[in-house]
Amino acid sequence: MISYSEPGLEIIRQELCRKTAELPFTEKEAESAGRFHMSLPAYAPTALASLSRAAKRYGVGAILVKDESSRFGIKAFKGLGGSYSMFRILCEELSLDPGASDFTTFLDPKIRERCAGIEFVTATDGNHGKGVSWAAKLFGCRAHVYLPAGSSEARRRAIEEAGEAEARVTDLNYDRTVELCAKLAEENGWILIQDTSWEGYERIPRWIVEGYLTMAEEAVSQLEGKVPTHVFLQAGVGAMAGGAASYFLKRFEGREPLIVIAEPTEAACVFRSVLAGDGRAHTVEGDPLTIMAGLNCGTPCGVTWPVLRDRSSFLCACADSFAERGMRAYAHPAGGDPPIVSCGSGAVTYGLLLHILESERLREMFGIGADSVILLVNTEGDTDPGEYARVTGAAPHRGQGGQNSKV
Ligand SMILES: Cc1ncc(COP(=O)(O)O)c(C=O)c1O
Repeated sequence: MISYSEPGLEIIRQELCRKTAELPFTEKEAESAGRFHMSLPAYAPTALASLSRAAKRYGVGAILVKDESSRFGIKAFKGLGGSYSMFRILCEELSLDPGASDFTTFLDPKIRERCAGIEFVTATDGNHGKGVSWAAKLFGCRAHVYLPAGSSEARRRAIEEAGEAEARVTDLNYDRTVELCAKLAEENGWILIQDTSWEGYERIPRWIVEGYLTMAEEAVSQLEGKVPTHVFLQAGVGAMAGGAASYFLKRFEGREPLIVIAEPTEAACVFRSVLAGDGRAHTVEGDPLTIMAGLNCGTPCGVTWPVLRDRSSFLCACADSFAERGMRAYAHPAGGDPPIVSCGSGAVTYGLLLHILESERLREMFGIGADSVILLVNTEGDTDPGEYARVTGAAPHRGQGGQNSKV
């Protein structure tokens, strides 16, 4: 079933992409999350950068990058899901109507007093934990954040510095760290706020995915009527990719873009699950090492897995070299294009795209030509500054996220 392979890259092409899966994340869900995000003092849409020189060089219509490197000052899209899900949970805990509330509701001292007693727990490979820590501070709550073995000290510290959390590195892999957090939640009366779902734990992850839709919604309005032919999305557990894919497929119904999913080879749980061919999500065991820290997850998210299984046209398992190439190409763009700051998880889709664009065979396989409008999401900034400097040889361009040329 693998349609193409070469050292460092495996591709599954879903020829007759089944169009049966429901699209559970649409404009309706995005509307509620967007209304909440707009009430946050730190909210501003992130830029949609146009890499027009690169597009010209490679003979495609457009290469557009939704650049999340500056989101909320925490350098990743993840705060969208952390904050919106925390809002929904707190509304429930405090018996507030989410339709009649937003962040301003939580500025009331009496409400803040009640929030102060609420504690959250989560497992993270970095960015989600940072979003949860940041959101906990916003709402006046507290969070406990656990990272899998091998997580860098820079990522751990960044979580504590982002807001109100105690962050610890475990000696477990990501999946086992999630299990630990579920247990700690039970034992301590903490609320598990996890960005992946399994049977019996779906409501909170669904809110997290809904939070991510603000990013997709912003991108559509910034496209100003253009319809992408290809959307490249990176997957860890696939919550973001499945949510965004659902949103784009529904929003562009009748002119659906091809959805291309990229994962690190060692932790390609969506890829391996599709490959298994039995319709079920499977776990990739072991302690994978990859510079794509945010994508280093072993089990697909239950609420978005059916979308990725049935509606993605291409699934790609990529070596770290693709992420490194993407980071360098974003940092040192073709003359005139805006530089983009990114780490491995954010940049892998660009490294993959460039590789495809340089191969006649792959261009044909992906149906890429002069009219293609390719949308990528740079999901993070220099979330590991040491790694950013090592790979790109560049110091990050602070604040450049807001200066990208709009489409
Ligand atoms: C920067 C970055 N990009 C992409 C992802 C993937 O998101 P998901 O786990 O929902 O697939 C993550 C997850 O942590 C991330 O941190």
